[in-house]
Amino acid sequence: MRLLPLLPLLCLLCSCGAGSTGVSYTSVSGIFKSNCVSCHGAKEPESELRLDSLGGILTGGKSGPAVVPGDADSSILISAVEDSGLVTRMPPEDDAPALDAASLGLLRRWVQAGAKP
Ligand code: HEC
Repeated sequence: MRLLPLLPLLCLLCSCGAGSTGVSYTSVSGIFKSNCVSCHGAKEPESELRLDSLGGILTGGKSGPAVVPGDADSSILISAVEDSGLVTRMPPEDDAPALDAASLGLLRRWVQAGAKP
């Protein structure tokens, strides 16, 4: 079976174990790592919000939990990246451009599906 070596890749692409429509934390953690953790990591995180682990995101910072599982519209993290007004746009305008549409879509789907591990 020549396709066998491709199985792990296919599995990643369809996020096995997260349900058929689910997006898992592992699918979005790279977005945080590349765009957010420089300011929201272990060392003096901005607004006391850590985005380097699922626990940090669920605990949240100054304004409370960064996501409300299942409710993207009430999640300040989603509002921050979509610039919809609940909190300052993230990443901050002066530091980096807004996330691309694919990342925004993925983050929204992850929260909407319950912000699962
Ligand atoms: C260059 C540094 C920097 C980067 C990169 C950055 N942030 Fe922030 N973040 C801040 C600062 C500064 C604040 C406080 C802003 C304020 O209070 O107006 C903040 C606040 C927040 C808050 C509000 C937290 C609270 O409890 O009030 C959220 C949510 C947030 N950031 C999410 C993100 C996300 C998601 C990313 C990546 C897409 C990101 N940030 C990237 C600097 C950064």
